[in-house]
Amino acid sequence: MENSGKVLWFTGLSGSGKTTTAEHVYKRLAESGQPVELLDGDAVRSAICKGLGFNREDRIENIHRIAYVADLLSRHGIVVLVSAITPYREMREYLKSRVTGYVEIYVNCSLDVCEARDVKGLYAKARRQEITMFTGISDPYDEPEQADIVLDTFQESVETNVNRILEWLERNDRYV
Ligand code: PPS
Ligand code: MG
Repeated sequence: MENSGKVLWFTGLSGSGKTTTAEHVYKRLAESGQPVELLDGDAVRSAICKGLGFNREDRIENIHRIAYVADLLSRHGIVVLVSAITPYREMREYLKSRVTGYVEIYVNCSLDVCEARDVKGLYAKARRQEITMFTGISDPYDEPEQADIVLDTFQESVETNVNRILEWLERNDRYV
């Protein structure tokens, strides 16, 4: 049987560094010749997850659709990087039981720091209630308790975090 890939699933608050870290890992893996794909929550929401909002039901549907594609790809030996908030514990339990090669990466950064960064201006809007159900402000983020890898994007550089992920992969399977 063909070797299965891995699904590196980056979970964390908005602005914690999921997309940035995943993009850098993507580049490093692609450069080393490893087949790799990136599914970003923000991006898939204008494609296969178009029309889904941010209430609990829609977020769960969003994660299920991404998981479906990620699982298909990983079964063919592709390393799949997913960057999506994935805020609820039940989502991550679902992923752990259903996604081939699931690796949970908690992109840890305090709400205060994410809000101070406010890269997209969404936290300010959420505070003014121009956006409702905003993760960390008006919708929960259940902190991961069993992540395979925990990154600190406040203290550590992108490069350090990328290296940690690549070292983890090296220790845990045949890649890079
Ligand atoms: S989820 O909860 O996993 O389904 O979310 P995801 O698909 O990753 O989408 C998160 C991005 O959507 C933008 N956005 C919001 N995030 C959280 N809550 C609310 N209400 C919201 N509205 C829009 C935001 O740009 C998120 O991107 P990131 O990269 O996480 O900052
Ligand atoms: Mg992002």
